[in-house]
Amino acid sequence: MKNLIVYGSKYGSSKKYAERLSQLTGIYLADYKEVKDLKVYDNVIYLGGIYASKVRGLKKTSKKMKDDARLILVTVSLGNPNTNKSIKENIRTANKKLLKKPLLDKLKFFHLVGSMDYPNLKRFDRAVMSFVFRMLKKQNIQGPDAKRMIAASEGKVAELDYSSLEKIINYLKEMKIIKQ
Ligand SMILES: Cc1cc2nc3c(=O)[nH]c(=O)nc-3n(C[C@H](O)[C@H](O)[C@H](O)COP(=O)(O)O)c2cc1C
Repeated sequence: MKNLIVYGSKYGSSKKYAERLSQLTGIYLADYKEVKDLKVYDNVIYLGGIYASKVRGLKKTSKKMKDDARLILVTVSLGNPNTNKSIKENIRTANKKLLKKPLLDKLKFFHLVGSMDYPNLKRFDRAVMSFVFRMLKKQNIQGPDAKRMIAASEGKVAELDYSSLEKIINYLKEMKIIKQ
């Protein structure tokens, strides 16, 4: 079986997770911008940042995969899909639409929580997030996701949770993609 980890990362969270996953599994790593043909790979583990619900670089990359490959899609977002059902559904629905149909058969999702360095975002991204933060504050939404968002809006950079890679590693072992 041939396996590859690919990442689509604008500000580095997904890249850092992907690098750690590569170290822990021994699977090679590539930036989505640099991969040309993925047809030889049976399993592609794609880690990408969420931008307006969509995984960065996913559409472009999935087109390069062979139809019967397994796509293990790891989303990296500020909201936590593991504890918030509506975020999870929203992300899954939006990203399934980006994939060619045959890839949906073996598709497996994982969700990791990313980070944000709000004061240092590119100008357009900062403007988008400023609007999102204002809306959130106005609606007075409570809970851990809102808290994380508000911390981000105050410039507090969240730590990445590398221990959350464990469940992906367990799955890779279960599927015999890597050795026990
Ligand atoms: C313009 C913009 C849009 C974003 N949209 C979402 C979103 O829809 N949902 C979400 O949970 N996080 C969203 N985020 C947060 C990113 O998903 C988060 O910062 C992630 O860690 C980025 O990954 P990267 O550093 O690998 O690019 C957005 C961030 C920016 C700058």
